[in-house]
Amino acid sequence: MIVAPSFLTADMRRLEAEITSVQSAAWLHFDVMDGKFVPASTYDHRLVASVRAYSDRFFDCHLMTVDPEASFSDYAQAGAASVTFHLEASADPAAGIAALHALGLKAGLAVKPATPIERLSPYLSDLDLVLVMSVEPGRGGQAFMPEALDRIAWLSAFRAERGLRYLIQVDGGINGNTAPLVRRAGADVVVAGSFLFNRTDREAAIAELAHGLPD
Ligand code: DX5
Ligand code: ZN
Repeated sequence: MIVAPSFLTADMRRLEAEITSVQSAAWLHFDVMDGKFVPASTYDHRLVASVRAYSDRFFDCHLMTVDPEASFSDYAQAGAASVTFHLEASADPAAGIAALHALGLKAGLAVKPATPIERLSPYLSDLDLVLVMSVEPGRGGQAFMPEALDRIAWLSAFRAERGLRYLIQVDGGINGNTAPLVRRAGADVVVAGSFLFNRTDREAAIAELAHGLPD
């Protein structure tokens, strides 16, 4: 399973060291919050651009923002590989997906826990990534919401039945116990913030999430 360390819990004063400490993770997950879609504010495309200077990983940008479409080109210029915006924040998700593809980006849609998963149906054939929030967006360190498992399974079945290509990503409360559950439900990518950045042996933590504990 792909592990995407979340730059929500990382020590922003030691960015380069923090990135180096999660070398084995192929993705980096940027949790962008604007203080409107969610109460907290974190950073924007400028952080992505500064990190791009010293990392060649797959930059996965999770926009917890209102009017996400307005900043898509900023993330393209900053070096993002994928941009995920919230279904709840967009008046026209299909147009947003097309705009991301026109910018050469992978397109993702995220849903908050209370949003019926079926609302994604019209967009799934065009998406590269679906982000199932397993916590209420807005901060790290929350407990995993087990109702996410049925939503992941629904997406996995929908994809198999129709031969679609989107990756299923899960974000929030991912740790050594919840990662195997979401993998079994059909997830391909897990975002992890506190589980990784609150530990010193981050490479071991990444391996545990990706493959489970060594036998
Ligand atoms: C919520 C954020 C967090 C973050 C991961 O808005 O999206 O879920 O990525 O945080 P942890 O892994 O600490 O739950
Ligand atoms: Zn996130």
